[in-house]
Amino acid sequence: MAPKGGLTIGQLAARTGLAVSAIRFYEEKGLVNPDRSETGQRRYEGADIRRLSFVMISQKLGFSLAEIQKLFRGLPDGRTPTKSDWSRISKSFRTSLDARIHQMELLRDKLDGCIGCGCLSLTACALYNPDDRIGDRGAGPRYLLGDEPGGD
Ligand code: FES
Repeated sequence: MAPKGGLTIGQLAARTGLAVSAIRFYEEKGLVNPDRSETGQRRYEGADIRRLSFVMISQKLGFSLAEIQKLFRGLPDGRTPTKSDWSRISKSFRTSLDARIHQMELLRDKLDGCIGCGCLSLTACALYNPDDRIGDRGAGPRYLLGDEPGGD
């Protein structure tokens, strides 16, 4: 529970595991908006721990700051976001997450096989990508981008 008057930046850093400089950076980017104490010091509310935790994990999962900023525009200013506020933004986030999960599953499942990248360096390539036929569908590791063998 945030102490009356709010958390200091040091307390927020301790609980989130973020550096104070990172918290200030996220403030510059509009992802967190502290109040000020009478002496001008930043004061954060408990809900800011959740905001910054969400930012930290999203970045670890490869989401850009721009994607996170866009998502956070759906959160209310000037009041603590409620469950329904978070549910509302999580809907659009879920789609991106599902796409990333699908790509990670493809990578996990195809890592030791032919990924359709054009290298033709594995025995499996002769079977799954003879003469790099899959390259006709575009650049990159086609089987990690969702293409399936065959159908040429
Ligand atoms: S792994 Fe590169 S073409 Fe098969």
